[in-house]
Amino acid sequence: MSVKEIFETMNYGPAPEDASEAFAWLVDQGDRFGHFIDGDFTSPDEGFLSRNPANGETLATLTQATQADVDTAVEAARKAQGKWARLGGHGRAKHLYAIARILQRNARLCAVLETLDNGKPIRESRDIDLPLVQRHFYYHAGMAQLMESELPDREPVGVCGQVIPWNFPLLMLAWKVAPALAMGNTVVLKPAEYTSLTALLFADLCRQAGLPKGVVNIVTGDGAVGEMIVTHPDVDKVAFTGSTEVGRRIRQATAGSGKALTLELGGKSPYVVFEDADLDSAIEGLVDAIWFNQGQVCCAGSRLLVQEGVAERFHDKLRARMQSLRIGNPLDKCIDVGAIVDPVQVRAISEMVEGCTEGERFSVATDLPESGCFYPPTLITGLAPSHRLMQEEIFGPVLVSTTFRTPDEAVQLANNTRYGLAASVWSENLNLALDIAPRIEAGVIWVNGSNMFDAAAGFGGVRESGFGREGGWEGLRAYTRPVGRTRQLAGIEPNTGENGPAEGIDRTPKLYIGGKQARPDGGYSRAVFSPRGKLLGQVPEANRKDLRNAVEAARGAGAWGRTSGHQRAQILYYMAENLSARADDFAHKINEMKGGRSGEKEVEASIRRLFTYAAWADKFDGQARGVPIRGIALAMRAPVGVIGAICPDEAPLLGMVSMMGPAIAMGNRVVMLASEPYPLVYADFYQVLDTSDLPGGVVNILTGKHGTLAPVMAAHMDVDAVWSFSSSGISEVIERESAGNLKRTWVNNGLVRDWFLAEGEGRDFLEAATEVKTIWVPYGA
Ligand code: NAI
Repeated sequence: MSVKEIFETMNYGPAPEDASEAFAWLVDQGDRFGHFIDGDFTSPDEGFLSRNPANGETLATLTQATQADVDTAVEAARKAQGKWARLGGHGRAKHLYAIARILQRNARLCAVLETLDNGKPIRESRDIDLPLVQRHFYYHAGMAQLMESELPDREPVGVCGQVIPWNFPLLMLAWKVAPALAMGNTVVLKPAEYTSLTALLFADLCRQAGLPKGVVNIVTGDGAVGEMIVTHPDVDKVAFTGSTEVGRRIRQATAGSGKALTLELGGKSPYVVFEDADLDSAIEGLVDAIWFNQGQVCCAGSRLLVQEGVAERFHDKLRARMQSLRIGNPLDKCIDVGAIVDPVQVRAISEMVEGCTEGERFSVATDLPESGCFYPPTLITGLAPSHRLMQEEIFGPVLVSTTFRTPDEAVQLANNTRYGLAASVWSENLNLALDIAPRIEAGVIWVNGSNMFDAAAGFGGVRESGFGREGGWEGLRAYTRPVGRTRQLAGIEPNTGENGPAEGIDRTPKLYIGGKQARPDGGYSRAVFSPRGKLLGQVPEANRKDLRNAVEAARGAGAWGRTSGHQRAQILYYMAENLSARADDFAHKINEMKGGRSGEKEVEASIRRLFTYAAWADKFDGQARGVPIRGIALAMRAPVGVIGAICPDEAPLLGMVSMMGPAIAMGNRVVMLASEPYPLVYADFYQVLDTSDLPGGVVNILTGKHGTLAPVMAAHMDVDAVWSFSSSGISEVIERESAGNLKRTWVNNGLVRDWFLAEGEGRDFLEAATEVKTIWVPYGA
């Protein structure tokens, strides 16, 4: 090729990265791998092949773990955990720092092996994945160092079972392993079957770095092995990244086990371009959003929403830009788009795209490499918002696009899927972008950017994109638990007695729904007695229809989430004032129901608690996180939405206040189910609410059987979270039924919490009442 021709075509010559070091490492290991358990590799056994998706060549043979392997790995992790935790924050920080350093020294080897195994362009594994992996270990070395001073009331969870996908093999490992180790846990991790090699290299590096035996254990195999890990009785915490479908199964499989769970699942993230955006920058951002890692990114900007006035121009620019994407050998440093991870994924992408007969399809016209798993970057325009390809993850280099007219329509389209992982908003008008950002339901929002990540900035979704955060202070929550608290909660049976006419004027019991008293749908009520069998009154038995009405009322009160913290504080203070005015009535009722004289103390504690949450309403703030990219990541505290709260049985008033307080202080709406054995105070309590300027629907109160209503609440698609501190033993059913829309759950697993003490209030509650929403904004030079 002459120089003139080169200038005319602007073709690049091949610039492949040298893979000899990575192949030498594979040869060193004998090309056959066992698991990494208790500080050593086990002998290779029956297994499967790991191939290079760019050319189909076999890289190594991996071992399919058996139940016995998983048991041994969990046992090793358990044995190592106490000592690892006792090493203290500084001791662990030194180990994490050593891991970061050894990863840095071996960055090239790691990056090349990652590209060989996964098919991602070396440019990405070298410049994005590996730097982020190192950063994660450095950052968490710091978290280990600070744990004792900054998180004095938290302790490690124990043994963590972690299952990760194939799209960012080493990065997902780092996201899981670094915080777990920092907080004093040990891990058993299973990489995805397509991409296990860098996890095994990581194990080798941990050994070289002198990490104590058993702290990190890696077992290989398919989904069945994943299932063995997540259901293992001696695993205390499960962390999963992968498909929503498998996430749902894991939620069901771990229900009632007491295991902590975080799920980072799929997405169909909107990429919103307003007509005042810098269109050329938005095009480059879009390349990073959907063609980064061949679109196999959970937070890929896979749904383009572009404002009508610029849509044609934007699509033209986009098609032109797509033509200049270079597709081919991932080891080539000039390549933009590499190979899809496996033929199975290529088939899945092709089937979804071929199955679409609507819209207009544009694919990059280029000769794809003859062998290997390649798929051309593709744009499909003109699909209806309800179209399957607009709703479901394609998980490939395929962008779907539609247009909008107004900012409101953009928000409505952006929120029009079951997911809520990430979103990009492009506009040169920051007023507009920052008005839109809080309105999009997603865990991460990039303003004038896309696919930016950092260890300091929490990452994770809302809705069916899962729950929990990785990174930042919020990511540590899942790897710690409050110190102590193992006492079992005894069930409380309602008092019994003779039913008959009540003393005085008969009071017709009602539920409290949408700010009004509502007759129970079924018309049933239940008598409440004193311990000596005296009839104290009647309470309605709510049924599923009442519950649905209450949820609908709560849904309708969404404006509460947009009120200011100051305003919410005022209302909480007002409630305390009104409760105080009727303190004697409440105390008397509690004493009558429970016997004894605890009523006065409970009312006093309830008033105090309302003050606590009034105080927090305008103080449980977000943070601004310094990230090593031009910009800043705002960690905003967003309300969870509609919370179903099944109140503690043992403290009828204080329990209700302890659920309601944090929920509404943070801008949520609640549907509360009052104490089952001691419900009577609920009706007096809603009179307090009625006189406290609380908008209707923000708090709804039902009475009825916890066991009957809990599964309905947990399965309701319009409930975003369920909390239960009931003594009825309903934790399992709540967790299992919550899998439908993957709502957040917070259940007591039968353990006692003393509502009169500090453990009955505070940060744990405020954190459960909020989602950290990370908003990346341009900032500084
Ligand atoms: P997957 O969710 O099946 O696999 C992820 C990991 O979970 C792997 O390590 C797998 O072995 C393990 N696993 C599978 N079944 C399990 C079970 N019952 N219990 C415990 N672990 C289990 O994802 P897959 O099949 O590899 O990809 C299918 C689709 O999932 C993709 O096309 C994409 O749409 C989505 N996906 C989303 C990811 C994300 O980051 N959100 C990552 C990978 C896939």
